[in-house]
Amino acid sequence: MKQVKGFSKLSKDEKINWLTKNYFNDSSQAKQTLERYWNQDQKLQKLHDEFTENTISNYYLPFGIAPNFLINDELYTIPMAIEESSVVAAASNAAKFWLEKGGFKAEVLSTQKVGQVHFTSAANTEKLTAFFNEVQPKLIEEVKAITKNMEKRGGGISSIELRNKTADLENYYQLHCTFETLDAMGANFINSCLEQIAETFTREAENYFSSEEQPEVVMSILSNYVPQCLVRAEVSCPVEDLLPNKADAEKFAHKFVEAVKIAKIEPYRAVTHNKGIMNGIDAVVLATGNDFRAIEACAHAYAAKDGSYSSLTDASVENGVFKFWMEIPLALGTVGGLTSLHPLVKLALEMLQKPSAKELMKIVAVAGLAQNFAALRSLTTVGIQQGHMKMHLMNILNQFEANENERQQVIEHFKSNTVSHSAVVEIIEGLRNGN
Ligand code: MEV
Repeated sequence: MKQVKGFSKLSKDEKINWLTKNYFNDSSQAKQTLERYWNQDQKLQKLHDEFTENTISNYYLPFGIAPNFLINDELYTIPMAIEESSVVAAASNAAKFWLEKGGFKAEVLSTQKVGQVHFTSAANTEKLTAFFNEVQPKLIEEVKAITKNMEKRGGGISSIELRNKTADLENYYQLHCTFETLDAMGANFINSCLEQIAETFTREAENYFSSEEQPEVVMSILSNYVPQCLVRAEVSCPVEDLLPNKADAEKFAHKFVEAVKIAKIEPYRAVTHNKGIMNGIDAVVLATGNDFRAIEACAHAYAAKDGSYSSLTDASVENGVFKFWMEIPLALGTVGGLTSLHPLVKLALEMLQKPSAKELMKIVAVAGLAQNFAALRSLTTVGIQQGHMKMHLMNILNQFEANENERQQVIEHFKSNTVSHSAVVEIIEGLRNGN
């Protein structure tokens, strides 16, 4: 294969031609596949093309909805963008289950974002501290052009702190900054502030330190770890309300709490347990145009905050009351980024009644808690495969391009039989061979 030069400057057609000619046996078929996913509306397609570099097509994910989510006494229909077949069904089931028991309660505990200027200096800490105290008002002053609009709305930089990290890494210090970014996720705002702070800091340091002591900025960047941007979601009800039969309800509550305890102390289980939570969270985060990688990175770091990786959710039975809850850091935005650009994101936010970032934090946390509830409910009772394979059946039928008649017969058959890939294939082949 030959290296390609100046690729990003080629037109979309030229890029596709280069790709399909070089990497595909049937280049016209590959081209057709890419083109089938283009939007007919050229303006809309151009919008998507320009979200990233070298766009050659669109990659669809199903956009589903989970209705009947009662959160703090308000009913929501939650948008979810996700490919995994059982996630939306599980969310809807959990929503319905809790709807009849008072719904979900959610509360934002804090909204602090973080960014750091990482620098090295051979100066002694006392001298650096004295310099920092002197220069701090200037750091704030010179970043005003960036912060003034955010400040008008009640946000901005909350604190700048000099942190001495030399015990961990020679000569390493930070300007650890905290921010309030209101309804914006704030990545661009924070990074712009930090780069300005770093510039002022470096310039002011020039006349203060000797050349050997001169601070050198290594990098200025927000942190996606936001343990003080925290939301809590919870459900609770008397144990006997969990199931019609009291003994079954008690057994269910006991096994459920045990399942959470296992995920608390066993990392192999905790990762899968939390992955299930993220099924719900990522789907809403994606549908609302937020950065799911940031959310993922932060959630897993938070899950390990006490030194070993653990469950994000907790459950208890006390005085006959079942309680299930989660505290999770979520840095979300409902303005800026894709929120006003992507038509489906706009639609998702309108579906959620145009939430503030705080409201979205609550909705997303609830979606995660609901997903975990649904997973644990299946796992501790009928097992996960029953529901999964029912949904997977559709994928297998699609894979075999089953017609309507075949679909109906296969679905009917598996109402009373266990779904497995081979069993489905056998039935389809049987139908096709006239058996
Ligand atoms: C599958 O995507 C998620 C589950 O494995 C989560 C869990 O085990 O708790 C069902």
